[in-house]
Amino acid sequence: MSTQQPAPLLALQGVHCVLGGQPVLTDLNLQVQGGERVAVIGPNGAGKTTLFQVISGLRPLHAGSVWLRGRRIDRLSPPQIARAGVGRSFQTPQVFGHLSVADNLRCALLAHAGSNGLRRLARDTALEQDTAAWLHALQLQALASARAQHLDYASLRALELGLALSGKAPLLLLDEPTAGMSRAQAGEMLDLILQVCRDRTLLVIEHDLDAVFRLASRVIVLHQGRALADGTPQDIRADARVQAVYLGLAP
Ligand SMILES: Nc1ncnc2c1ncn2[C@@H]1O[C@H](COP(=O)(O)OP(=O)(O)OP(=O)(O)O)[C@@H](O)[C@H]1O
Ligand SMILES: [Mg+2]
Repeated sequence: MSTQQPAPLLALQGVHCVLGGQPVLTDLNLQVQGGERVAVIGPNGAGKTTLFQVISGLRPLHAGSVWLRGRRIDRLSPPQIARAGVGRSFQTPQVFGHLSVADNLRCALLAHAGSNGLRRLARDTALEQDTAAWLHALQLQALASARAQHLDYASLRALELGLALSGKAPLLLLDEPTAGMSRAQAGEMLDLILQVCRDRTLLVIEHDLDAVFRLASRVIVLHQGRALADGTPQDIRADARVQAVYLGLAP
């Protein structure tokens, strides 16, 4: 990579991923700069979740490489990649169901703290203050004592967002954060994402195009494991190939 310009926050070079003998990602090249909000869209089975699995180390590459701020990360373990600065939420929310909302946040804060952070959190009321700040930011104060398994779906997704964010990772991968929500709930979730992720770089898989156009400054369209288009929301809306494969407007 060039030494003249800072490396992009995230770069994929020639990524191939094969699952069950079938190519799922093919020659994928992608760069995301710090501060961008990028939506990844595409039909079911296009490879969107697999892309996130590959970036976060949960699926091996069969060729190519993944870089974070110029550091190669595709040979690191998922915890190492998380510590290097990649946070994520899952298509199906992943929380500790038997723990309270507040305890889920405490666990995430402690897990992400590192040794210096742990020393700080162990002092006085630092852990309680940080937990309270996250409950406030996520608008979950009233549910602090509720077991996560008893949360309504929208609150569960908000908690999961908080767990991903509390690690302070500069890059966040959000897999369908508004899936399964009513229009009103999805709107509130988007408000929350825009509020609490404003200092992060986002890569968001999203099927709802209204959400995409509200959230993203750039859209990447995956189709059969390849990047079919990459541009501004306006470019993507006007792209005939995208309309054909994704928007279902082709004859
Ligand atoms: N473990 C696996 N073994 C074999 N094939 C798999 C595996 N996981 C995913 N696939 C296949 O890889 C392709 C891409 O799957 P992926 O979950 O990445 O799609 P997606 O774009 O996230 O779809 P959706 O919008 O439905 O979530 C699909 O054809 C899927 O059947
Ligand atoms: Mg998926």
